[in-house]
Amino acid sequence: MSSSSQASQQVPGSEFKEKLPLRDGFSTRLGVVLATLGSAVGLGNIWKFPTLTGSSGGAVFIIIYIISVLLIGIPVMVSELAIGRSARANAVDSMRTSTPNKAPWWLIGALGILSAFLIMGFYTEVAGWVFAYIFKAMSGSILSTSSEVTTAAFTSLVTNSVLSLVWQWVDLVIVGAVILFGVSKGIERVTKTLIPVLLVLLIVVAIRSLTLPGAGEGLEFLFKPDLSKVTASTLLAGVGLAFFKLSIGMGAMITYGSYFRQDQNISGTALRVAFSDMSIALLAGVAIFPAVFAYGFQPDAGPSLVFLTIPSVFASMPAGNFFMVIFFILTFIASIGAQVSLLEVLVSYVNEHLKINRKAATVYSMLGLAVFGSLAALSSSLLSNIKLFGLTFFDLFDFTSSNIFLPVGGLFICIFVGWVWGKEKFFAALTNNGSLNNQGFVSFLFFLIRFVSPVLVLLVLLNGLGVFA
Ligand code: TRP
Repeated sequence: MSSSSQASQQVPGSEFKEKLPLRDGFSTRLGVVLATLGSAVGLGNIWKFPTLTGSSGGAVFIIIYIISVLLIGIPVMVSELAIGRSARANAVDSMRTSTPNKAPWWLIGALGILSAFLIMGFYTEVAGWVFAYIFKAMSGSILSTSSEVTTAAFTSLVTNSVLSLVWQWVDLVIVGAVILFGVSKGIERVTKTLIPVLLVLLIVVAIRSLTLPGAGEGLEFLFKPDLSKVTASTLLAGVGLAFFKLSIGMGAMITYGSYFRQDQNISGTALRVAFSDMSIALLAGVAIFPAVFAYGFQPDAGPSLVFLTIPSVFASMPAGNFFMVIFFILTFIASIGAQVSLLEVLVSYVNEHLKINRKAATVYSMLGLAVFGSLAALSSSLLSNIKLFGLTFFDLFDFTSSNIFLPVGGLFICIFVGWVWGKEKFFAALTNNGSLNNQGFVSFLFFLIRFVSPVLVLLVLLNGLGVFA
């Protein structure tokens, strides 16, 4: 085993390191895993995964999603992390310095910056609602089995322009505060504390849900597939969710990879993160669907599932208000690590590329997001009549980021790593210059990255956009 400091000397691209000032990074190996997991776990697990599973037919969707994670998600994640750790820079500069010729592969990084705006645009709004719902739940005002009451509570929030903006900005300030503390003292420390709390709270709610009479129907919905539900759009949604869930396709994992320790096992970390994230999504499904079915609610409510159905479900159960408060707290906690990773893509770019100090870079990025995000925040109020392709800004940001931008970004990252960056650098990065004994697995991953993942993404993308219809 060569020592970690030796490994760091030899990693390709590390010559670039000398040009940068001393960089902050994740400090411990467990810290690396938890920070990366903190990025993956988020509203994707507790809001998007149940919503899509509910509206796309349950178990079949889960299977598509799991296959997407295995054949596309993990290879893309590994590719991004490897580039980031080798280049040790923000997404744009990492792509630029990893390109052996003058080809404009840095555009993938630039596309990522755009995706960060699109995702944060609607994500900060949903996180803002969740935050608001913690207080609504505490006050007991949404504890009702009547859908009129829960709908009125949700509508009064989202149709109020001022409230929508305020909750979004409060959320942005919280996320910005974490970023201001830096990579090891901010991102790593906060996610390390929050992930265990999140897990405990989620398990509490899942046990409550599973022990309700009639929980079996919900489990059946989650785990018994009905193959007739597979369509082009379910396939695209499943692949899109895999991208969204693993925070891949827009440079967040390039950025996080740049903070990885040189002795970190990249593929091992990616596997741990992907499986833990998937388990947390399934656990959220188990926390939600048995209860939804037990009290006779519909699973296919769409994006409002968490805000309309969930309060009624909790209102139906003993000590429901207590569990509802816990549920919204855990959801908000989950959203923080994810948002931090999205904001960090912008901050590291502004900081390193535009040479603006980290504090100012954070403030500028937050201001930019506050302005851009207000388009999504006002989608149900002031701007509700403005639609592009029949979608409000909120829905447009959500749909285009997951279903187009991230898959396209991931597709190009596979092509770049498999065919431009090449086998030698990939192997050096994944085996830590030969010090890890994982050649077989690395060869298999490289095969997926070259031939399988990009082809699958392309087919699903074209199919989902109606090209073969
Ligand atoms: N993975 C997060 C979730 O599931 C969302 C997220 C964080 C994300 N960073 C990202 C999605 C980068 C795409 C790209 O909630």
